[in-house]
Amino acid sequence: MSDGKPDNPQRGSVIVGTGACVPERVLTNADLERLVDTNDQWIRERTGIRERRIADPSQAVSDLAAVASRQALEMAGIEPADLDLIIVATLTPDRWLPSASCTLQEVLGARHAAAFDLNAACSGFIYGLGVADSMIRSGMLETALVIGAETLSRIVDYQDRSTCVLFGDGAGAAVLRPCAGGRGVLAVELRSDGTQGNLLEIPAGGSRLPASHQTVDERGHFIKMRGNELFKFAVRSMESVSRATMEAAGVAPEDISLLIPHQANYRIVKATADRLGMSEDRIVLNIERLGNTSSASVPIGLDEAVRGGRLKLGDRFAMVAFGGGVTWGAAVCEWNPALAEPLHERTAGAGAAAGRSSVT
Ligand code: ACO
Repeated sequence: MSDGKPDNPQRGSVIVGTGACVPERVLTNADLERLVDTNDQWIRERTGIRERRIADPSQAVSDLAAVASRQALEMAGIEPADLDLIIVATLTPDRWLPSASCTLQEVLGARHAAAFDLNAACSGFIYGLGVADSMIRSGMLETALVIGAETLSRIVDYQDRSTCVLFGDGAGAAVLRPCAGGRGVLAVELRSDGTQGNLLEIPAGGSRLPASHQTVDERGHFIKMRGNELFKFAVRSMESVSRATMEAAGVAPEDISLLIPHQANYRIVKATADRLGMSEDRIVLNIERLGNTSSASVPIGLDEAVRGGRLKLGDRFAMVAFGGGVTWGAAVCEWNPALAEPLHERTAGAGAAAGRSSVT
């Protein structure tokens, strides 16, 4: 998909709009006490979660993604037809085929956009941001919509107390546009380690173990997690990749106004922030209200920070996540939508800008 030209060091990308959507239905710790052998105190002390949101049976990932996307596009002042790319980061797509991103493309009417799903579990939004940033940076396209969206309630076993208390549903979105190099998205670092894949898995339903009566009877389509091992990995990985990304961006932890971490567990977030020397007032936290929304947690946190006025123009902020795979990654950005280049008028049959390859 490259036009063969080297990256233009003078070109960067910047986030110009954000949006979020959480379903209306609230599942409290008291509700879970009625489903499994657990209690509110254990859940709050071990995870920091009081409640989470659960999608209505009629809602799929693309429905939540559509609400978040429209908000992000509206903030950006961009029409769906101006989009060149849609990436939906999710491990719970509407169905295996077509992708949630193609469904979303149709729903939004984003007729010029290439669209694909990306699965990097809870790190998915950071991965999507990295892909979109590099495609804009290379000159291949101009306007990208990156979404993290999940309906984890569909793959959580409500008979397994070690996982069902953790997860919730939601979606967050960001629109990216080109800007001058060295501004906007300052650095993205992505990591993975497949040797640790068994820490978090859904054993059945793929080509290794296709769906059958047996896989359903064995509850093989639900998330299985080795929470203790994941916990230790999470703190180490979130700290190290945050430091590496800040270094690549040429900033120190004290230059970062706000840290937007993946909301897996309050204790993981707190331990990561402590190691980075960041006080709690510089961290975005929504785990108490939303639980772990996987790839949606970072973009929801970003949208809350933007709309809540916690990010001021010119602030530098960091986003960091880890998840199944295992995967982890971080991005350091400058919040300044005004840096974006003005939108070019699209010419029939061409990409968003003349003289470059097109994905449409
Ligand atoms: N209610 C009550 N007791 C429970 C529950 C529950 N919901 N779940 C487990 N327990 C019990 C265990 O059975 C165990 O009992 P035992 O001592 O009699 O054997 C005891 O509580 C302690 O269990 P631990 O697993 O050691 O508890 P821990 O303090 O590690 O907390 C937790 C568990 C919250 C899962 C923690 O390990 C964690 O957050 N890990 C990281 C999880 C994570 O990040 N997941 C997602 C990452 S990727 C993604 O987001 C998709």
